[in-house]
Amino acid sequence: MISLHSVSKTFGDHTRSVAALDDVSLDVARGEIFGVVGQSGAGKSTLIRTVNLLERPDAGAVVVDGVDLTSIGSGQLRLARQKIGMIFQHFNLLSSRTVRGNVELALEVTGAERRERRRRADEILDLVGLTDKAEAYPGQLSGGQKQRVGIARALAAEPTVLLSDEATSALDPETTRSILELVRTINQQLGLTVLLITHEMDVVKTICDSAALLESGRIVEHGPLVELISRPGSRLAADLFPLGAVPPHAGNTVIDITFSGGSADRPVIAQLARTHGLDVSILGAVIETIGGSQAGRTRLELPGSAAANAAAIADLRSQGLLVEVAA
Ligand SMILES: Nc1ncnc2c1ncn2[C@@H]1O[C@H](COP(=O)(O)OP(=O)(O)OP(=O)(O)O)[C@@H](O)[C@H]1O
Ligand SMILES: [Mg+2]
Repeated sequence: MISLHSVSKTFGDHTRSVAALDDVSLDVARGEIFGVVGQSGAGKSTLIRTVNLLERPDAGAVVVDGVDLTSIGSGQLRLARQKIGMIFQHFNLLSSRTVRGNVELALEVTGAERRERRRRADEILDLVGLTDKAEAYPGQLSGGQKQRVGIARALAAEPTVLLSDEATSALDPETTRSILELVRTINQQLGLTVLLITHEMDVVKTICDSAALLESGRIVEHGPLVELISRPGSRLAADLFPLGAVPPHAGNTVIDITFSGGSADRPVIAQLARTHGLDVSILGAVIETIGGSQAGRTRLELPGSAAANAAAIADLRSQGLLVEVAA
């Protein structure tokens, strides 16, 4: 649904330049919620702004719903942009217009008639749960309500894609949860494809199907969450599903076991203890249900050196489990 092909964007002049995006390629499937995470300055906002060409890349192609936005004229681009809604951290509402007026504004560019604009605005305000605030002004709303107006405005022209730039960063945890629920509802009810950027791992965990890690303008890792969690050495998985950090005792062996699919409910620790007579300690564990299947990792401490535990580790591996021995 959204494809970036080798997109690069550099800011600055000949004296000082920043490669905000460096050869970024990305595919977001139709109907999925895709999260991009990364530190401040990693290029997240630049990336999302290239998707509707608010930021025109120096190189590469941006294809949305089969249309290469980088190769079309301004008239066609205006039409294509109507199919891409966007929401922002600070809502970007017009304070002089009512809630309904803000939503109707998004319909004026589509050329819809006044009556149709009103009908559509009320329909979408109902969807986001703000019918009783239609006549209110943004200054009279809470942050969560303002973001609901932002979402209503973004959806007014019936887009196929929703872009979200830190839409919940200014909200408290409970309001964040309700906004994320709303995003998931519209994703499912309207079949909307969502590309969101955030620095909050919880946001990704709560609603994303897939995620990518952006670092200094480059995508260093990406994939479906259910795959990431069982990918050995994955930094995204370590951030999304931290194992905790109980320190091991000197001279002992630490192993990380990755479970996925059918292996998640096997009595691995009991078996290790019984078959190999080992006193196993659990240093950390994470088991999550993502997309209906279980995946997770467990960090275990085994008494003695890695050499002394070679048979037990080989046994685990022979059961098809992924076992990494910590250095
Ligand atoms: N219009 C601009 N002019 C010059 N430099 C820019 C411009 N926009 C972004 N940059 C630079 O590009 C880099 C990426 O910025 P970007 O805003 O995409 O980061 P970000 O990941 O969204 O950060 P944050 O989490 O703080 O919002 C930064 O080094 C930034 O200073
Ligand atoms: Mg940003």
